[in-house]
Amino acid sequence: MKGLIKDKEMKNIDSEMRQELISSEATAMSMTEEEFFAHFEKSMISNQQFFMYYRCAIMEIETKFKVLNEQFSINSERNPIEFIQSRIKSYGSLYRKMIAKDIPRTYAAMEANIYDIAGVRVVCSFIEDIYRLADCFLRQDDIRLIERKDYISEPKANGYRSLHLIVEVPIFLENEKKPVKVEVQLRTIAMDFWASLEHKLRYKKDIQPETLGMLTSELKTCADESAALDKRMQVIKNIISGEI
Ligand code: GTP
Ligand code: MG
Repeated sequence: MKGLIKDKEMKNIDSEMRQELISSEATAMSMTEEEFFAHFEKSMISNQQFFMYYRCAIMEIETKFKVLNEQFSINSERNPIEFIQSRIKSYGSLYRKMIAKDIPRTYAAMEANIYDIAGVRVVCSFIEDIYRLADCFLRQDDIRLIERKDYISEPKANGYRSLHLIVEVPIFLENEKKPVKVEVQLRTIAMDFWASLEHKLRYKKDIQPETLGMLTSELKTCADESAALDKRMQVIKNIISGEI
């Protein structure tokens, strides 16, 4: 799985976040840091365990889509999914989100308020496959839908398109069954291509305002053209497969 957190990074997270957690929980619980440290050592799950829940949830979600892909490939003699990419949110971006949303630096608060710690991106060739896969996935009785945002039927002002699902999936551990939130993004290859280019522009710091304006408008034109292309290719595919 591409982009999963590395052991070295995990060690850094461990010491930095432990320190943060110790001081914020201590304040929240009116303990001295020393008192809280003892409490923390005894009762708080480790960072490794916290992120392990999300890695397991990613495995569950990936498997569900791979199973659907297998079944669809038998029924329609083609694979609707081109590729799946998964990632755990990096510590830096998790930390920035906690600050931006003013979330207490505790595991419980992160779990309750940050929905994209685990992310799975499913990339398809055709728009209709996105909706078909999403429907089959959401009908599964262990998946709980928390939020659905359809940026395909209603693209963002900049032209961004994708179907976003925030779901909860249970993971089964030695002595517990734990529901874990995952953000699933479904998009076509064209949407993915556009989003990765737009992402580069978003994070480009040293850019003149007029160049930024020109590129933003150019990207919007590309988004409109790529949306039209997705629709035309879908029609061609439907004619070829005898669906219309
Ligand atoms: P946050 O998750 O708090 O950022 O806000 P939100 O839940 O309102 O975000 P949303 O569901 O709109 O988007 C979540 C994810 O979708 C982002 O982290 C990106 O991966 C992707 N995304 C959303 N909008 C854009 C966009 O305009 N451009 C690109 N490249 N990606 C986007
Ligand atoms: Mg989000």
